[in-house]
Amino acid sequence: MAKLKVGVLASGGGSNLQAIIDRSLAGEIDVEVAVVISDVATAHALERARRAGIPAVHVPPGRFRTKLEPEIEERYVETLERYGIDVIALAGFMRILHDEFLARYSGRIVNVHPSLLPSFPGLAAQRQAFEYGVRWTGATVHFVDAGVDTGPIIVQAVVPVRDDDTAETLAARVLDEEHRIYPEALQLIAEGRVHVAGRRVAIAERPEPREPETAPAAQEGKDAGR
Ligand code: GRF
Repeated sequence: MAKLKVGVLASGGGSNLQAIIDRSLAGEIDVEVAVVISDVATAHALERARRAGIPAVHVPPGRFRTKLEPEIEERYVETLERYGIDVIALAGFMRILHDEFLARYSGRIVNVHPSLLPSFPGLAAQRQAFEYGVRWTGATVHFVDAGVDTGPIIVQAVVPVRDDDTAETLAARVLDEEHRIYPEALQLIAEGRVHVAGRRVAIAERPEPREPETAPAAQEGKDAGR
């Protein structure tokens, strides 16, 4: 199967990026991380990419705090195009993307969020869930639309909140689930099994493995020798 070429945008530590890299280098998912772009020069995500031999590109964000300047966003597009990406995976990318960017890559941008959306969108979702007192939280991989963490949901994982949890211990267990489901969601996309209909995402069954075909010539040869 041809590999799904993924461009990862990350602003921070890049542990989700690492999970995707590890599973792809192990041959467990049909995904190739083709380029990693960061708005932060010192982001450890860039270092992780370099160590894995993946092009790591720093594109400074410009003068805004929470979004990219339009001309800068164009540089993101140029870089993603240069590496021929099929899908963009946001992994701790701390900038809002403009409508033109979203329209250009409509249905091809995914994000991981550390809560069971639609609960607790936005920043510090694990702490929000902890302080609210929910008994269950989790992680979500979703398509990106113009809202904050509002796009159609592809995969979710549930994490119980324990009585002795702190916001930090809870966040660590949520992160483990992010690392598990993000590569899996990308694999579903790579297999062409993800279909969006409005807000709902349907995951097609995995096709039955085909019976190995017996080469007629070899078979005939065997029979003749009997
Ligand atoms: C993750 O918790 C992700 O859900 C959120 O940002 C964090 C990024 O962590 N969007 P990392 O950089 O992948 O370690």
